[in-house]
Amino acid sequence: MCDFSNETPDPNKEWFVDSPFITRFIEHVRERMEAQPDRALLLEELKPAFTELMNSEGWLPEEYATPDETSGMGGGIGQYALYRAGDGSLTLFSLVVPAGSSTPVHDHLAWGLIGLYQGSQREQVYAVADGDPDSGHAQLELTKDVHVDTGEFFPLLPPKDDIHRVTTTSEEASISIHLLGNDTGCVTRHSYEPETSVVKSFRSGYSNLPCDDESEAAD
Ligand SMILES: [Fe+2]
Repeated sequence: MCDFSNETPDPNKEWFVDSPFITRFIEHVRERMEAQPDRALLLEELKPAFTELMNSEGWLPEEYATPDETSGMGGGIGQYALYRAGDGSLTLFSLVVPAGSSTPVHDHLAWGLIGLYQGSQREQVYAVADGDPDSGHAQLELTKDVHVDTGEFFPLLPPKDDIHRVTTTSEEASISIHLLGNDTGCVTRHSYEPETSVVKSFRSGYSNLPCDDESEAAD
């Protein structure tokens, strides 16, 4: 197993987990992405492999299963890239939400599968009822308010089910695994305040690597 802790993150590096299981999983996903242009059907086709990922233990390094007090999500939420395609078309990452913490209400702007690998969560899903998120103002309506247990996962196909907030309800941190069809940590997306309808642009970043322009901007 590699020791990543003393390495300078390389934003161009694609693999951040040294695991043949994950390598095979990503190769399968990429092969299906090329073969199946219909994203709704692609999500169906990826469910068996994602189920296996959810049910397998030992592949997620401990350092990517811990909270991050400096994260762009706030609340000590760690977001760790496990695989990031160089062309921005696919990422696999873990999201570690400490006990009692909530994410902001946010979107993802990509198709994907999100599954709970550890702990339990409350998930509140929203849809835009009026307005345009890009204008900075959108009224949301709550479409789902559910309890999610370890092993459960759900698909995203924007605009359907793309906006949500998750809150950890277990005594331990919750860890969700995201497979998404963009470079989620580095794209500019939206955070929402349902009470005021205010929408802000935000970029969550990754806890274990900079986005490309961050590394260029760093002195
Ligand atoms: Fe999310």
